[in-house]
Order: sequence, then C-alpha cells, then structure tokens
Amino acid sequence: MEKLTTTLSSQTVSEIEKDFQPDAHSYRWNTAKKDTLGDVIGLTTADMDFPRTPQMQQVIVNFAEKGCLMYPTQHPKLNPVTLRRIHNRYKASNIESEDILFFPSVLTAMNALVWALNPPNTPYTLLTPNYPPLFNLSQPSKILEMPLLDTEHEDPTQRGRIDFAKLKTEMHLRQSKVLVISNPSNPLGKVWQPTEINEIIDFARKNAIHVLSDEIWIDWTFESPATSFAKFITSPTSNHSAILPVESQSQPATKSTAAKQPTTSKSCCNASFDPKKTPAAGISPVEYSTSEISDPTVAVVMATSKTFNIGGLNCAYIITKNKPLKKKLQYYLNFYCTAPSQLAQHMLIHLYEQGDETFHHYKELVRKNRDYLVEFCREKIPQLRLLLGAASHVVWIDASALTTTASNPADFFLKNAKVHLFHGSAFGSQYTKFIRMNIATHPHILAEALNRMHQAIKNSH
Ligand SMILES: Cc1ncc(COP(=O)(O)O)c(C=O)c1O
Repeated sequence: MEKLTTTLSSQTVSEIEKDFQPDAHSYRWNTAKKDTLGDVIGLTTADMDFPRTPQMQQVIVNFAEKGCLMYPTQHPKLNPVTLRRIHNRYKASNIESEDILFFPSVLTAMNALVWALNPPNTPYTLLTPNYPPLFNLSQPSKILEMPLLDTEHEDPTQRGRIDFAKLKTEMHLRQSKVLVISNPSNPLGKVWQPTEINEIIDFARKNAIHVLSDEIWIDWTFESPATSFAKFITSPTSNHSAILPVESQSQPATKSTAAKQPTTSKSCCNASFDPKKTPAAGISPVEYSTSEISDPTVAVVMATSKTFNIGGLNCAYIITKNKPLKKKLQYYLNFYCTAPSQLAQHMLIHLYEQGDETFHHYKELVRKNRDYLVEFCREKIPQLRLLLGAASHVVWIDASALTTTASNPADFFLKNAKVHLFHGSAFGSQYTKFIRMNIATHPHILAEALNRMHQAIKNSH
C-alpha cells in the first residue's frame, strides 16, 4: 500500500491500543460474526470501540458496593445536573427543571411522544434519510417519508433542505400532525442552523404541527456547537388542551374519575408498583392515546449514550413545556413502569459533571479517522463519494459510482470484503445506492476495513 500523507499519530494509536478490544458482546461485533462466517469487521451500529475511563469504572464499582438495584426513584441530582447542562452547554435558559422528564432511552422517549401526540390512524412525518428505528415509532402508526432536498450537494452546508410547500401539502393531505427530525441528522451529519430551526418552528406553528427533535447527537459536532431546538421552546399559548381520557370525556368529572388523572411527579417511576396508586389505573394506553393535545408543541429528546459511548447504560430525557403533554408522558412512564436504572442515573451525573474531557478525546480520535478515510478514498476508492457532514462518527456514502456492487453495496462489501456496513435503504426507501459506515474504531481496524473494500473492488473487475 502506498504511504498515505495523513498518518495516524502513533501516540494516539498506542493510547487506545493498550486497552482496545472489540467487544464481542456488543450488538455490532456480535451481529457481524453471526451474519457470516469468518472475521467480519463490524462498522454498523453507532457506538465506539474506545475504552471507558478509569473514572467511569469507579462509578460502576461504587455503585456495585452501595447502589440501589431495586425499582428506582429519581436521584436528587439528576434533574439539577441535567438542567445546568441544558443552560450552560445548549444555552436554553428558557428551560426549567419541571420541563425535563427522564426515560430509559431515546427510542422509548420518541415512542412515548408519538403515542402522546400523533392522532391514531394518521401517519407521523419523518424527514429522510433518517435513523431506521425512527420509522417504527409507536406502532401501529403509519409513516409519511419526506425526503430532504439536495442531500448530495457539493457544498455540505447546502445539503438537506426542506421543501416546505411539499411538506405542507403532503402533511395536510395525510392529516399528519407530527414532524420528526434528528438534529444533528443521522446519517447526514447535518447540523440544523438557527435560521432553519426558526423556519421549521414557524411552519409548525402556522400549520398546527408538533415537532419532535431527536438530539442524541447534539454534542457530536466537529466545528461550532449545534443549536438545540430546546432554545426555541416556549410555553404553549394555552395549557387547557383536551387531554382527558376518553372515558372521562364522556362523563362529567366525578371525584373518582378525577382521581384517575395522571399527575406530574418528580420520581422516575413513582408508585408504579401499586395499581391503586398508579395515577391512571384502569385506563389503557389505547384509550388514553386518543385524547388530543391541540397546541402545537416542540419536544426535544437528549441522552448520554452517543456523547459518552454508553448505549448499553443509557439515560434519556424529554424537554417540553407543554403541561398536558407532560401529564400524558407521566402517565406513559407510570403505565409501563419505566425509568432509567439507578446506575444509568449515577453515570449521567458523573459524566455531565466531569465527562467532557473524555468526550473531547473520543472526538479527536474520530477526527483523525475521518481524515484518514477521506485521504484513503481519494487515493484508492474514488468511486465512494463521502458525504461528510459537520457532526457524528458515522459517514454517509454515495456508492452509486460502483458498477460492480449489483443492487446492494452493503451486501457486496459484506460478502467480498467481510466488512459489515449498513445499507442505505434502511434510512429511507430511495437510498439503495448508499451505505453508512461507523468510523469510531481503532485506526488499524479502519485501515484494514478500507484495504479490504479496496481489494474487493479491484477483484471484481
Ligand atoms: C438519531 C438516533 N436516535 C436514537 C438512537 C438510539 O437511541 P437510544 O439507544 O437511546 O434509544 C440512535 C442510535 O444510533 C440515533 O442515531
């Protein structure tokens, strides 16, 4: 192999090499092994092959000694520490403590939001390409895919515009009331700019649409920080939206039906295990989901998992100011008895207070891998068009210039290079010529994967 001018700093390599071992139990490496025989390199799921810090290990050790393994309540520091980060890092000083609700993961939070806001039997709208599980929120919801424009534009800052006229027509036609967005976008790495966010929110207000912004990648920008939709959240004009469960709507509120109304509570999973105390006991989620929240709402979901590489110890939260929505979400948490584990809460507190240096280190490792990838593809695989965005450690790649990969470039690389990548079609039906590559791995593994891909293309001619 010719010498690439971008070399990986040997210090960096040895730093992470000493502890490095692909985790065979992780979804990414395990699936790679199961899918085919042999030593497949797994570059699919978006987590990182970098070791945890001694401080993170200490949190786990301390927890093992004294931590609560019973059904959790909310740690008293969880809310203030998170709020401080929302104020200091995302500059959303409009957000108050009571506007934050904790969930075990982003996907449970997004599911709850679609369940709470999306009228039954109407589709929610998803801007595509987008993260595959966002296509399946709160089934049996249907979905309206709305492809972003110019996703392959030469200038990365011009990629992924919204066609508002089309969005309005289609959402109106399909009676869709919920718009789901990822900010920054997975897989595009597009960081939504304040003017664009303003436009989206303005559109949503005028058309009575709820906006759900999945901001799991919010910290993962390479240049300037991303703007959170949370900065733009205002209190709804009215907080008296009809959110009463169906059975209550059909009768005057008596003492007993009033007692069934959900209450906002500071505990993660309050009273969940005593049906008599469960706020909405006896009302099924199906009935409850039919109650409408009329004020157009912006809700944001954030988490620790991408920033600190703890997808297996996740702690997520919804930020919203809509009181009826909060009540409905609290009902959901109580009904399903769901909450982040105490260990996940302890880890959030530690990482939000002291973890940013570690994150910075991860990001520098990924930045070097990005540089290496760019140079390698320029010199050896120019057929792969890297659509590098301004954020995240996954890279969206246009493989349409590869003539030898038949209809599915991900299949081609799995079979011929033993490199496991995601196929673009999972991110939207029209992206069949695309692949997504996770580059947050050991530099030697990335180099090996790229060499194998290069060789596979050469062999296929
Ligand atoms: C945009 C997006 N949302 C959500 C998730 C998953 O979040 P969680 O594991 O907290 O459910 C991912 C994971 O890659 C993601 O990229």
